[in-house]
Amino acid sequence: MTWIIFSKIFICILFTSGVSSKYFPPSIDFGVATSAYQIEGAWNVDGRGESIWDNFTHTIPSPIANGDTGDVACDSYDKYEEDVRLIAALGVKYYRFSISWSRVLPTGYSNDINLKGLEYYKNLTLQIKKFGMIPVVTLYHWDLPQRLREDGIDWINIDLVQHFVNYSRIVIEHLPEVGIWLTINEPKQVCHYSYGNGRFAPGIKSSGLLEYQCAYVLLKTHAAVYHMYKEEFPNYEAKMAIAPDCQWVKPLTDKPADIAAAYRQLEFWCGLYYQPIFSGDWPYEVKTRIALRSIMEHYNQSRLPQFDQQEIEYIRGTSDFIAVNHYVTLLVSDVDEGPDDVTSFENDMRTNWTFYPSVNQGANGFTVNPWGIRKVINWLHEQYGKQDILITEVGISDNGTSLNDDFRISFYTGMYCNILEAVETDNINVFGVIAWSYIDNFEWLDGYTMHFGMYHIDFSDADRKRVPKKSVEFFQNLTTKRYLNCEDEL
Ligand code: BGC
Repeated sequence: MTWIIFSKIFICILFTSGVSSKYFPPSIDFGVATSAYQIEGAWNVDGRGESIWDNFTHTIPSPIANGDTGDVACDSYDKYEEDVRLIAALGVKYYRFSISWSRVLPTGYSNDINLKGLEYYKNLTLQIKKFGMIPVVTLYHWDLPQRLREDGIDWINIDLVQHFVNYSRIVIEHLPEVGIWLTINEPKQVCHYSYGNGRFAPGIKSSGLLEYQCAYVLLKTHAAVYHMYKEEFPNYEAKMAIAPDCQWVKPLTDKPADIAAAYRQLEFWCGLYYQPIFSGDWPYEVKTRIALRSIMEHYNQSRLPQFDQQEIEYIRGTSDFIAVNHYVTLLVSDVDEGPDDVTSFENDMRTNWTFYPSVNQGANGFTVNPWGIRKVINWLHEQYGKQDILITEVGISDNGTSLNDDFRISFYTGMYCNILEAVETDNINVFGVIAWSYIDNFEWLDGYTMHFGMYHIDFSDADRKRVPKKSVEFFQNLTTKRYLNCEDEL
C-alpha cells in the first residue's frame, strides 16, 4: 500500500516536472510582434512627419548596412489587412505593434493631429479585434518626431515628459480597443545606444553622462503616462507596463569577483530600468558605483541624476505587470578599474562580456542558450516581488537565404519549453509569450541583412510578397496543439 502511494507521488512529481512539461496551460497566450518604423514604410505619405530614424537613415554616408532605410520597409501601411490575416492564421492571441508618433502628430506637438494617421491605427486595431486577437500596443519604439529633436525636446530634456503624455493621451483616447499598453520599448537601447555609444538615432555619444540623464527622463516619462492613464481613463481595462530587455548573465568562473561582476551587469543593464518602477530608486549597486567613479573622475556630484523621495514614490508601482524582451545569455567577468580620466558606462559597470558559447547561433551572432530565459524570469520574479510576467519579445535572425528555418524552430522550442518550466515547475505566472517577429523587417543598423521573421520578404521585390518560412507551420501547430516535445530542451 505504502509502495503504491509512493509510486503515485513519484509519477505525479514526474508529470509536473521537467520531462513532461509538454502542454501549454490555457493561462499562457501566444503572440507575435513588430514595430512601426521596422514594417510600415510610407514614411512621408498621408501627412506623416519625419522621425529621428528617417533622418538618421537618410544621413550620408549612411550609418546603416547597405544604406538601407525604412522608407518602404514591409509596406505594412498599405498591407496591414493582409498582415493581420496572416497573423491570425498563425493562431496567436496577441499582435504587438507600435505607433509612429510622427504619423499621429507630424511635428510631435499636440496642436497638429494627423487624422489619417489616427485612422490608420484605428483600422489596424479594429482589424486585429475582428480576427479575435488582442492588440498589444507600444507607444514608443524608438521613433521620436524629428521636429521635437530639432527643438531640443528629446530624451535628455525633461520637457519631453509633457509632450509624450499629450501624445499618449490622444492615442489612448482614440484606441479603447487596445488590450495591453506598453509605454516604451527597451529603454536600454533608447538611452545607452542613442545617448551613450551613439550607435542609434539620434547618434549622441555621451557615455556615462547623458545616457543617465536619458534614463532619468525616460522613467519619469513612463511614470507620467501611467498616472495619466490611470487617472483619466478609469474605465479602460487594458493593463500598462514598460518593456525593457533583459539578457541573462553567467559568471565566467566561480571566483567571487566574476560573480559580483555578473550581478553588476544585471543591475546596470536591467535593474537600472526595472528597479525604480518595481522597488523604488536606482539599484544600490548602480548608484554606488557611479557615485564612486564620479568622485574618482573629479566630478563634484554623481553623474547619475538622483531621484528625490517624491520622485521615488511617483515612479514606484507604475506598472501592472513585468514585461521583458529576451534574446541571449552572456558570459561575464570582472575587469580592473578603468583609468580615471575616462568617463564611460563601461567603466561604471566594469565588466567584460561575451555571448555564452553555443553551436547554434543567429545570423547576427546571438548564441542560443534557452535556459537563460527561465533564469531571467526567475530573477525578475524574485527581485521585484512575484509579478505576472509577459515576454514581449523573443526571437532569432537568419540571413534571408533559405525558407527552411529549422534552427528557428529549434530556438523557439527551447525557449518556449523553458518558459513552460518557469510556469509549471517554478510556479511563476507568465501569461503570454510574444515572438519577434511575424515578418522579416528593417533591422536597425543591420538594415535588411538580418531577418527575424516567420514570413520571408525579398526587399528587392516591389510587391513585398510575404512568403512563409518553415516556422509558420511550426507556430500553427504550436498554437493549435499547444504541445511541445521538451525532453531534449531542459
Ligand atoms: C527590438 C527590435 C529588434 C529586435 C531584434 C529588439 O531589441 O525591440 O526592434 O528588431 O530586438 O534585434
